[in-house]
Amino acid sequence: MKIGAYALHNAVLVAPMAGITDRPFRRLARRYGAALAVSEMVSSRPELRGSRKTLLRLDHAGEPGPVSVQIAGSDPAMLADAARFNVGRGAQIIDINMGCPAKKVCNVAAGSALLGDESLVARIVEAVVAAVDVPVTVKIRTGPSPEQRNAVRIARIIEAAGAQMLAIHGRTRACMFEGQAEYQTIAEVKCHVAIPVIANGDISTPEQAKTVLQRTGADGIMIGRAAQGRPWLFRQITHYLATGELLAPPAPREMGAALVEHLDGLYDLYGDEQGTRVARKHIGWAVRELPGGDGLRAAVNGMTAAAAQRTAVNDYFERLAA
Ligand SMILES: Cc1cc2nc3c(=O)[nH]c(=O)nc-3n(C[C@H](O)[C@H](O)[C@H](O)COP(=O)(O)O)c2cc1C
Repeated sequence: MKIGAYALHNAVLVAPMAGITDRPFRRLARRYGAALAVSEMVSSRPELRGSRKTLLRLDHAGEPGPVSVQIAGSDPAMLADAARFNVGRGAQIIDINMGCPAKKVCNVAAGSALLGDESLVARIVEAVVAAVDVPVTVKIRTGPSPEQRNAVRIARIIEAAGAQMLAIHGRTRACMFEGQAEYQTIAEVKCHVAIPVIANGDISTPEQAKTVLQRTGADGIMIGRAAQGRPWLFRQITHYLATGELLAPPAPREMGAALVEHLDGLYDLYGDEQGTRVARKHIGWAVRELPGGDGLRAAVNGMTAAAAQRTAVNDYFERLAA
């Protein structure tokens, strides 16, 4: 699959998740084989560019390319400017968020709220494509509500406006995260556009990845929540798609090494205090199904020193491996 000049080495991508797919998460997922990891969304509002949160989201140091940065907003000129700004900061692909149902985004008619205004979708994509000379991609849901599944029309508009890849989460805006993702609409979109289409939503095993690819005809898949605490899922899925063979989860020693690598990345990016706080949820996800995981989670939740948290995690996995 190609996005502009960038050839991806497989069809498995990381879904952007604000507060989760930061630089340490993306680097780990890429190391385990994900072909592309879109950044957490950054606001297009220029007054937020200097905020600590935005600056941390704009830090791509050491990240393997192509670096894809997602921008969110509703004003075409502002999004075009944000795209230029991010390309200046190292973005090699600009992704536009038209899929997020979060209130904070939708209150200003951004994210998936845009799907209800087809002419605005066209103006936004045209403005961003004209503003930068890197590929522009878009992430959408299947429509504003189950009664208005307009993804096929939106996809054609997005393609005509010059976007070079489209990712679709198989839920409508109104569905939030309820029920099951559906893939029929994604299959219909795939039949109506020539740009690469990426299917997303509720894919959590190698077998599901294969089934969704077969049912939708999509060029690739995007994995979000299922990879939380399990970055090796990208290796398991890419291996299964390539060979048909299921890989066992890694042994405790490798799991521990991956988690410690993740934690070191968090402490490095956020500093000790925020880093140990951000780390808690990732530790919780990593050990949720492991013996004694609850005890470790309770212990690290009270820790504010990175060295102590790191040691607790390391010791836990050493015990598990022994
Ligand atoms: C905590 C969280 C944050 C998210 N943030 C974003 C975001 O910043 N941009 C975006 O396009 N989608 C965002 N999403 C949606 C995901 O990219 C993805 O479409 C959704 O989780 C469904 O895929 P999954 O079932 O594989 O998780 C977010 C989802 C979650 C759970």
